[in-house]
Amino acid sequence: MGRLSSPNFSAKHHSTQRSLRNNVVVTLAAIVATAVCATFWFRYIGLSEAPSAIHFYARVTRPRGICLGVRGDAPSYAGYIGLQGDTPDSHRRSFFWLFEAEENASDAPLILTVGGGPGTTGLLKPLGGQGPCILTPNGTVPNPDRITQRFNLLALDHPIGTGFSYGRMVNNSHDAALDVHDFLQKFYLLFPRLAKNQLIISGGSYGGKYLPNIATVIQEKNEAIVLQQSKRAIHIDLESLMISNPSSDPIAHYRWLLFFRCELHSLYDAATCAAMYAKLPECLDLISISLQDTGFSQSANKARRTAREFCYYIAWGGDTHGVIVEDIRRTCNETDTLRCFPHFEWIERYLRDSATMRSLGVPPFFNFTALSDTVEQAFFATGDVMLPAHLLYEPLLSKGIRVLHYIGAQDGNCAWPGILSFLKALRTPFQREFMRASDVPWPTSDYVATTVRAVGEGAGNMTYILIDGAGHFPSQDQPELVKKITERWISNSPWV
Ligand SMILES: *[C@@H]1O[C@H](CO)[C@@H](O)[C@H](O)[C@H]1NC(C)=O
Ligand SMILES: *[C@@H]1O[C@H](CO)[C@@H](O)[C@H](O)[C@H]1NC(C)=O
Ligand SMILES: *[C@@H]1O[C@H](CO)[C@@H](O)[C@H](O)[C@H]1NC(C)=O
Ligand SMILES: *[C@@H]1O[C@H](CO)[C@@H](O)[C@H](O)[C@H]1NC(C)=O
Ligand SMILES: *[C@@H]1O[C@H](CO)[C@@H](O)[C@H](O)[C@H]1NC(C)=O
Ligand SMILES: *[C@@H]1O[C@H](CO)[C@@H](O)[C@H](O)[C@H]1NC(C)=O
Repeated sequence: MGRLSSPNFSAKHHSTQRSLRNNVVVTLAAIVATAVCATFWFRYIGLSEAPSAIHFYARVTRPRGICLGVRGDAPSYAGYIGLQGDTPDSHRRSFFWLFEAEENASDAPLILTVGGGPGTTGLLKPLGGQGPCILTPNGTVPNPDRITQRFNLLALDHPIGTGFSYGRMVNNSHDAALDVHDFLQKFYLLFPRLAKNQLIISGGSYGGKYLPNIATVIQEKNEAIVLQQSKRAIHIDLESLMISNPSSDPIAHYRWLLFFRCELHSLYDAATCAAMYAKLPECLDLISISLQDTGFSQSANKARRTAREFCYYIAWGGDTHGVIVEDIRRTCNETDTLRCFPHFEWIERYLRDSATMRSLGVPPFFNFTALSDTVEQAFFATGDVMLPAHLLYEPLLSKGIRVLHYIGAQDGNCAWPGILSFLKALRTPFQREFMRASDVPWPTSDYVATTVRAVGEGAGNMTYILIDGAGHFPSQDQPELVKKITERWISNSPWV
């Protein structure tokens, strides 16, 4: 049974008032306990505004025994938060799983992690190398390389429709980012002791679209608080972003893709490379044309879809003779390449288990999928993938948000040359230095092939790490190294 440790959890609510801004009061309006799980309803009122009540649905459980770590049952909380528009009849509910830091949980930075896709569960990194336990074909085992030793790790199934999150969906990264801000506001009401802690947001792949949008919305909402335009919101202490193998800039992505696949490596034979090079100029033109209107009108959506569909052949149309695009060191004959990454299968087996689901407080009707087709299709319909999300880094970097890219060099999907290319082109205070900086080996001779290019004090404001021994999923391929990178980045101390 999914259970809430009621005494413990209600005690936390009493401290809610202390840590909120002065002009906000939280009152527990009602507690509705069902036979299965406790369900909390909250009401919060901005005193200096006309009293307007906001209720939201929250359901939190304390999972037991399903993710045993090196130190035994790792303390964690899982459950749902109802987002804007959620009503008892029409749901919009985000699933989260918070793993507490082993050391100094109440002061330790909070790492929010989301999946890629669009539509991939946010639990992949936590259960695939970063959390207290790690997936095997037969469930989980303790994870010696967990980043939860020093950091609170908050996994979010983002956007709605992904993993265990359910209800009315959005269809682009900007609307999805508004949902994350709403989620965090409510999350901090449930866990007020974490609201003062540094926040780091982590993601990869399609996270290259999600993260700059999420950070931008947080930054804008924080600025609105300073300008007193929003009295009710909680200021979010966003410190930095950590991004692995992103899809961010569609132009740089395609401009460099064949260089990686045909020149640096032999992913395709000569005939395929020639056929693809012949399509490249028109692909780049169609993307450029679609960029003339970055709104969501029908014609703008259509221009992006047209570009995406035309360029699709270059991305996925060639025969690789069994080589996995996301990790060119490996071969695999599955038609569904996701199946070449057993973590997807393991995570589905684990999260479809009825005991695991009960422990996480998930409704029994769920049949968990690691990648949601419906979310993917909804995002494809707006051509979100063709939007220039990378440009959002320019104001963020200029305003002091630090940005780390750590890239698996064996990934032919989000290949490193296109990523380094858009990073160089970003117009920020760091541009000149970033272009001139050298790639320095790090951390030891065990990792000779890992290099760091950092600009700015400490671990850098703008930092790029290339990991030779990793593909599209660096935290699965090199968990120990990624833990070292995470600790160094967040402590913001120089690499060498
Ligand atoms: C925990 O925090 C305290 C007070 O900030 C500090 O003295 C101590 O070194 C920290 N412990 C660890 C293991 O980080
Ligand atoms: C998983 O369980 C099966 C059946 O009990 C066993 O044969 C297999 O060795 C186990 N695999 C691992 C990696 O523990
Ligand atoms: C893929 O299929 C080929 C034959 O079609 C076989 O020789 C090869 O071993 C297979 N590779 C894997 C990884 O299963
Ligand atoms: C969940 O979905 C998978 C694949 O679609 C299917 O094989 C499985 O039987 C389903 N499980 C339940 C309980 O419906
Ligand atoms: C995206 O979602 C909005 C809001 O639900 C909807 O009005 C719009 O039609 C959707 N766009 C597409 C292309 O499906
Ligand atoms: C760079 O990061 C540091 C923190 O290490 C911060 O204090 C500084 O403001 C940032 N620089 C710029 C130009 O934003």
